[in-house]
Amino acid sequence: MRILVTGAAGFIGGNYVLFRLENYPGDTIVSLDKLTYAGNLENLASVMDDPRHQFVKGDIADSNLVEELFDAQDKRFDAVINFAAESHVDRSIDNPDIFLKTNTFGAFTLLEAVRRHGAGMFIQVSTDEVYGSLGLDDPSFTETTTIDPSSPYSASKASADFMALSYYRTYQIPVIVTRCSNNYGSYQFPEKLIPLFINNLLNDKQVPIYGSGENTRDWIHVRDHCGAINLILEKGKSGDVYNIGGQCEKKNIEIADHLIEMMGKDKSMKKFVTDRPGHDFRYSMDISKMESELGWRPAVKFEDGLKETVDWYKNNRAWLEKVTSGAYRGYYDKMYKNR
Ligand code: NAD
Ligand code: DAU
Repeated sequence: MRILVTGAAGFIGGNYVLFRLENYPGDTIVSLDKLTYAGNLENLASVMDDPRHQFVKGDIADSNLVEELFDAQDKRFDAVINFAAESHVDRSIDNPDIFLKTNTFGAFTLLEAVRRHGAGMFIQVSTDEVYGSLGLDDPSFTETTTIDPSSPYSASKASADFMALSYYRTYQIPVIVTRCSNNYGSYQFPEKLIPLFINNLLNDKQVPIYGSGENTRDWIHVRDHCGAINLILEKGKSGDVYNIGGQCEKKNIEIADHLIEMMGKDKSMKKFVTDRPGHDFRYSMDISKMESELGWRPAVKFEDGLKETVDWYKNNRAWLEKVTSGAYRGYYDKMYKNR
């Protein structure tokens, strides 16, 4: 297959490119990424000289650039997989503008290019957050749960989902929307819960737990997410939505406890801080459609995946130090100093 992967220098897009080229030796991939603070070419270092891979720096919301990129191809892409996004909820609360531009307008720009040039499939990589928040005893999100986003981030992703599905209905463009739960694994930028806590603990700093720490997320290893996307690309039904989840609900406080124990630190490393505004209480994915239609289930056990992730950050201190120097310090102070 010839695949355009956007957001390829980020956490999930980067893991996807590496995973895909390793497991599908006949593929070629064009990676498109704006290289924002979250994009890091080091994530793609092992494939930068691979003749099957081409990297293009650019913005998915730049219609001229996207048009030129599609024009330059000998034949149409077999798949366009849109991972590119502003992905951090806290940043969207601080500065929603860029979320709308990248997540909504960017997806629209790619869809327009696919409308003009064609593509075998357009996969819009979305999130469980578009469904909003669950109470403790509510049933898990299914693909037909009402869309009810809470943050500018999730609202911008929900808009992109609707736009993508409208292109399927209106223009018969082959589109699939995937909605996944919280990912963890290697190369995740340390603004998100797990890598931020690992980084703090490696530096003997307390871990900031929002509110009471009772908020719950459904955790999936990034390899399982990538595997699910491959299966959806092969066998998924155009015009459909697929929920992907880890079947692993954990309270944030439990994650803190796991990491503190795993990293041999003391319980006093926990610090409760002011809550996130509009903080969704619980996410939980019903994955029965993926199970019954595509025979998929997550394979990585949380304890094993978390241990592997901690080891990855321990063994890649240079990567971590590089991404936490400079602008990250300002970000951390702004978000956490007086919290
Ligand atoms: P990330 O922030 O680690 O990476 C995003 C990448 O997109 C970066 O490389 C960045 O440079 C690039 N990018 C940002 N704006 C761009 C633009 N305008 N044009 C081109 N590239 C741009 O994000 P992630 O965690 O890897 O998430 C990838 C996708 O998966 C996102 O669409 C996100 O909404 C979705 N998702 C993430 C999770 C999760 O737990 N991280 C779960 C479900 C879905
Ligand atoms: O559910 C999928 C989503 O998961 C993705 O769409 C998003 O791109 C991704 O960022 C993630 O969103 P969350 O808001 O769930 O992830 P985050 O890691 O920011 O926070 C996870 C939980 O931990 C949440 O309840 C807030 C809490 N938290 C987070 C941080 C960064 C803390 O208690 N302290 C922190 O310092």
